Amino acid sequence: MANGTPEIQYYEHELNIRRVIEQSDLQGLDQALIICDLSSLERKLRLWQKLLPRIKPHYAVKCNDNPVLVKFLADLGAGFDCASKNELKLVLGFGVSPERIIFAHPCRPASHLKYAKEQEVVNGTVDNEFEVYKLSQHFPNSNLIVRFKSEAKKALCPLGEKYGCDAEADAPALMILSKALGLKVTGTSFHVGSGCSEMEAYDRAVEKAENIFRFGELIGHNMNLLDVGGGFPGIDDELFEEIAVAVNTSVQLRFPDERVKVIAEPGRFFVEAAYTLVCKIHAKREVRNENGRLEKLMYYLNDGIYGVFAAMFYYPEELTPVLYLDDVESRPKFKSVMWGPSCDALDKISDNWLLPNLNCGDLLGFRNMGAYTVPIASPFNGFDVPETRYFLAKRL
Ligand SMILES: Cc1ncc(COP(=O)(O)O)c(C=O)c1O
Repeated sequence: MANGTPEIQYYEHELNIRRVIEQSDLQGLDQALIICDLSSLERKLRLWQKLLPRIKPHYAVKCNDNPVLVKFLADLGAGFDCASKNELKLVLGFGVSPERIIFAHPCRPASHLKYAKEQEVVNGTVDNEFEVYKLSQHFPNSNLIVRFKSEAKKALCPLGEKYGCDAEADAPALMILSKALGLKVTGTSFHVGSGCSEMEAYDRAVEKAENIFRFGELIGHNMNLLDVGGGFPGIDDELFEEIAVAVNTSVQLRFPDERVKVIAEPGRFFVEAAYTLVCKIHAKREVRNENGRLEKLMYYLNDGIYGVFAAMFYYPEELTPVLYLDDVESRPKFKSVMWGPSCDALDKISDNWLLPNLNCGDLLGFRNMGAYTVPIASPFNGFDVPETRYFLAKRL
C-alpha cells in the first residue's frame, strides 16, 4: 500500500482464489492472508438497487471499517451508518456529504455529538429520555430518529436487549418529551437483528413504524424518514430476494407517500462475501490413545479466534474450509482439531472437522469472512492481524 492507496489487482470475469494463492508467496508469509474482491461490493450494490429501489442503503461501517471498502462504497454513491466519532471522521474524510450519513447509535458520548454537530451530521437515532435531554443540551438542532425494538424470531445476532425503546409505550413518550424541549423528531428506525431469516419480521416492524409516524404527525412533528435497519443476508441472494419482496410490499402498503424517505443500514449484506481468508498450517500434532491408535490430528493455523475468527463467538455460522489440494475427495479422512496460533487454549477454531491428513505448509481457505471479522481481530499474543490484498474485475 503506497501513500495509503492500496494496490488493486485486476482480473477478467471471475476471481480465481486458487490462482491468486499460487501466484502469492504464502509459504514465505507467516501471516494469514485476506483476499478481498471489491467487485463483490459493487455487485451487491447493484442487486440492492434493483430489488429495493426506494430504499437507500447506508452501509453500517461497524461491520467492516476497512478504509478501502468504505471509500469504494463512498465512490459508488452509497450512504453510511456511523456509530462513533471515528467512523464519522473516516466517512467524511472520503468526501461523503453529511446528508448521506445517519449517526445510528442511540447512546452517544457528548464529544461524539459535538463532532456530529460541527460536521452537520444531523440525522441520529435515540431510544431513551436521557439521550433526549443530552441532545437538547449538545445538539438541539439535530433530527431525532426514534429507534424502537422489533426483533425477528430468527436472527444470528439479536440486538433488542441493548437498543430500541418499546414502540407502543416509550416511543410516544419520547416524542412528547422532544416536543416539550423544542426538539425535532423526523423519523423512526428499528433493527430486526443481524442475520435475520424471518421474513415477517420486517412487516411487524414497519407496522409499528407506521403507528409511530401517525403519532408523531399528530403532535406536530414533521415525520419524513423511515429507517428499516439491517438484518439483510450477506451470502444468500435468494433469501435476500425474498426479504426484499417482503420489505417492499410492507413499505409500499404502509408508507405509500413517496415523500417519506426510506433508508436501511445493511452491513453484512455488502461485505460478508467479499473476503476469503487463507490460512496456513504451521504446526501439527498426532493424538493417540493408550493402544497407540490415532485418535485425531491437531493443526495449528496462523489465524484464530483472537484474529479474524473472532466473529465465531458473535455469529456462530458453520465454517467449511476449502482445501487447495487436487485429490481431497479420494483421501481417507480423520477427525481434525484446528487451533489458532496463540498460546491460549481457548483459541480453538474447530474440533470436529473430518479432513484428509494435512501437512505443515498446507493452506486452508475460508470464504465469506468480510463481516464482523477484521475490526474485531487483535494482534493478541504477538500474532499479526492478516494482511489484505485487493482485487477488482476489469469490467462487470
Ligand atoms: C445500528 C446498527 N445498524 C446496522 C447494523 C448492521 O446490521 P447487519 O449486520 O444486519 O447488516 C448493526 C449491526 O449490529 C447495527 O447495530
